[in-house]
Amino acid sequence: MNEGTVFSEKIPTHLAIIMDGNGRWAKQRGLPRTEGHRVGMEKIREIMDICQKKGIKVLTLYAFSKQNWNRPKREVNFLMKKFENYLDTEVDTLMEKRVNFRVIGRVKELPFNLRKKIKKVMDKTKNNRDFFLNLAINYGGQEEIVDAVKIISRLVKESKVSPRKIDVEFFKRYLYTPDLPYPDLLIRTGGEFRVSNFLLWQIAYTEFWVTKVFWPDFKEEHLEEALIDFAKRERRFGAIKEE
Ligand code: IPE
Ligand code: IPE
Ligand code: MG
Repeated sequence: MNEGTVFSEKIPTHLAIIMDGNGRWAKQRGLPRTEGHRVGMEKIREIMDICQKKGIKVLTLYAFSKQNWNRPKREVNFLMKKFENYLDTEVDTLMEKRVNFRVIGRVKELPFNLRKKIKKVMDKTKNNRDFFLNLAINYGGQEEIVDAVKIISRLVKESKVSPRKIDVEFFKRYLYTPDLPYPDLLIRTGGEFRVSNFLLWQIAYTEFWVTKVFWPDFKEEHLEEALIDFAKRERRFGAIKEE
């Protein structure tokens, strides 16, 4: 990101969302869970547009966790297909809106066709700087930390890094998005008060907002509500308020 760019303190620079509640949304309507995922995936474009309009610069969306493989095969396969569709249909819009698109998570473990498409869209959008969209697929916060530890251990073993050099700033460089700031605000839809293995390292000082609204129903008015509350909060980062 362009260091030195000044954003309003009251609008989060980086918004992260746990897009939860697709299954319950569908169940409420007597529909299969996959129908919730279909509508949920269509929400992404709408919410990204609103974020761009509001001056948010980075959006990180939790789409599929490392633990979500434990779901029925049919549901998992449906989601993998949906991610492929998303990449096919959105690539032009991402270019038009100058969006830098990335997938965070263990991409190597994803189906071949999906991996190929992810690479293509990431390569194509890599120089875009107006907005940053991170889609977390096969993502786990604990896994991200372990992946960083593995890289650093190798560097230590090869005597390329001295253990004395390892501190919080150093560690950050080995996470999936070392160039991006940490989330200022984390929204969870679907009403659960937990993080479910999302961005564990990065949310050390992130503000939380939980809404009962299911992801397929999440709209501008709900985002607005979260942003208004965020703007009122006093972030102290462990310090005390200046007199
Ligand atoms: C979130 O919705 C999407 C994924 C985890 C893939 P869920 O599928 O978890 O929906 P609920 O929580 O069961 O309603
Ligand atoms: C978190 O939701 C993962 C995503 C939204 C992609 P889950 O539905 O998997 O989380 P739990 O099982 O309620 O903790
Ligand atoms: Mg859920």
